[in-house]
Amino acid sequence: VSDVIPPTLAWKRGHIRVIDQRLLPGQLVFLDLATVDELCEAITTLAVRGAPALGVAGAMGIGLAALNGEPLEAAAARLLATRPTAVNLAWGVARALAAEDPVAESKRLAVEDVERNMRLGSHGAPLLPVGGRVYTHCNAGSLACVGYGTALGVIRAAHEAGREPSVWVGETRPALQGARLTAWELSRLRIPATLVTDSMAGPLMASFEVDCVVVGADRIAANGDVANKIGTYGLAVLAHHHRVPFYVAAPLSTVDFDCHDGTRIPIERRAREEVTSLGGVTTAPEGVEVDNRAFDVTPADLVSAIITEEGLARPPYSTSLADLAEAAGYLSDHD
Ligand code: MRU
Repeated sequence: VSDVIPPTLAWKRGHIRVIDQRLLPGQLVFLDLATVDELCEAITTLAVRGAPALGVAGAMGIGLAALNGEPLEAAAARLLATRPTAVNLAWGVARALAAEDPVAESKRLAVEDVERNMRLGSHGAPLLPVGGRVYTHCNAGSLACVGYGTALGVIRAAHEAGREPSVWVGETRPALQGARLTAWELSRLRIPATLVTDSMAGPLMASFEVDCVVVGADRIAANGDVANKIGTYGLAVLAHHHRVPFYVAAPLSTVDFDCHDGTRIPIERRAREEVTSLGGVTTAPEGVEVDNRAFDVTPADLVSAIITEEGLARPPYSTSLADLAEAAGYLSDHD
């Protein structure tokens, strides 16, 4: 796609080579993972993260188990226990388990990921007004996938089409995926971007400085409810109040047709230290109660459209998402 951002993960001589996202933006360092345990550790510590990347990582994990002669079912259980919200992880694991050759299947998913994101981007780009100011949250870019990105894929496709988008990047407390990863990607791509604290979204919309919001998703229920990084729901409420279009960009592998609505989506809770410290410095009193939910659920009625690789889904999502998946032969392949 573009060598300014290397692939997030790839097979390299029987190992999985991943960008260590914990060290960005300071250093671009690769990690070689040789065992399922090393991969699980990389996932739980956010060296590898983002829903589509987790899907391919899950498939590659089954490939690693096969290469190492480990029982595949046990490897699958360990991989699935790492992070509960992104349904892509379970999807990638299932795809590799069902394949005759899990390594070949994971390579296929990696190639498909980039191709799907580029198609998704081309469907979403026309939604962005020429010269539009887009607000995004967390990182739904190349780093959250194998390459190109979903929400950032839409912005990138608009940029490549000469629509001259500029981007408000919400820093995304507590793990700062917006500041560390999205701002890094956009600067590498030379797409104009301005970093803001998460609390800036309201005032920016109130002063008519946001033309639309585009975010990714970790799991979309069959009715169109969207789980994404904590803070997404608040953004959607603000966007609705200010009549700013709110778009979700995600491949169909993020849609969980077995999940009726957002109340059934498991929400990951992460370590208290992510909230009580910043860069190793303690920022809260010892012993304070902490609630660190990593994701929230945005109800479908706040979502203007869901951008997929097969085209746009519009409300009501229970029919539009199923129609897109069926047209792409996706539902049978998903079952
Ligand atoms: O905790 P993370 O960094 O894995 O959370 C990632 C997100 O919330 C992304 O927005 C989502 O996975 C979509 S990525 C294309």
